[in-house]
Amino acid sequence: MRVTVSRDPFDTELLQRKCGRVLLSEVDDLVNLDELSRALRGLTDAELIYLSTPYQPRLVAEVHRLGFFQVTTRNVYARGLESGVAAPGIRLPTLHKAELRARHDIEDFGHLLRSLVTRSRYWKDERIPRGNALALYQRWFYNSIYADYAEEVVAALDGGEIVGLVTLKEQGTNLYLDLIVVDERAQGKGVGRLLIHEAFAYGAARRALNVKVETEGENVPANRFYQKLGFLLDTHTLAFHQHAPVLP
Ligand SMILES: CC(C)(COP(=O)(O)OP(=O)(O)OC[C@H]1O[C@@H](n2cnc3c(N)ncnc32)[C@H](O)[C@@H]1OP(=O)(O)O)[C@@H](O)C(=O)NCCC(=O)NCCS
Repeated sequence: MRVTVSRDPFDTELLQRKCGRVLLSEVDDLVNLDELSRALRGLTDAELIYLSTPYQPRLVAEVHRLGFFQVTTRNVYARGLESGVAAPGIRLPTLHKAELRARHDIEDFGHLLRSLVTRSRYWKDERIPRGNALALYQRWFYNSIYADYAEEVVAALDGGEIVGLVTLKEQGTNLYLDLIVVDERAQGKGVGRLLIHEAFAYGAARRALNVKVETEGENVPANRFYQKLGFLLDTHTLAFHQHAPVLP
């Protein structure tokens, strides 16, 4: 079993509580609970700990015993870039990061922000104030569009309004779809496919090998969407939260 522990300054600032992360990987029958306890002792001052792990019954029992509760499952989907994605039936103008920064304010993305945050694990944890979860997503949008958190951003426009957005990050030979959302009124019309098509074109130009995207297991529409576009499940993990008992 491998244990990786880190502090999360981004969430700490925006949720206004000290956040830490524990990532368990290569989990097998030889789950080392001492190693897990040691890792948690390194985060004793944390007020909120995220723990991510592949499924292992003994480990799940242990993390429950330690006060963690499961908030969601995370699916990572992958698709090889060489296969491409069929173009959508609709044609809409697109804007890229530099043009978006020049022509749009963060307020223009507010409707998309809400569609996404309500799908997030932050929203599913009733002990995280909704306003803080919104602030976190707003900053994530801001950093992706107006700062360097995403390398590229592509938005689709309809009648001058932004109806969909995808933000892209490269990591080695993988291109990650970091945020992807279509305005609720525009869903089911091919806008999502158009954004993925644009993402594949960007990845091909950068010579990436795979496109990857992570989504919550219970976000059935998103899971169906990725599968329809030829993505296959790459990894499946469980996500837990633990709030320190001092919190209300
Ligand atoms: C997931 C999402 C981006 C899809 O965008 P969209 O514009 O509605 O999808 P499209 O209309 O381009 O659909 C593309 C394909 O996926 C399929 N699909 C889309 N939504 C689906 C659903 N709810 N159930 C089944 N299939 C679906 C479509 O049938 C379509 O197939 P086709 O091209 O063969 O006809 C959009 O629903 C969304 O923004 N959801 C809320 C935010 C979110 O969950 N984002 C993902 C977080 S990881």
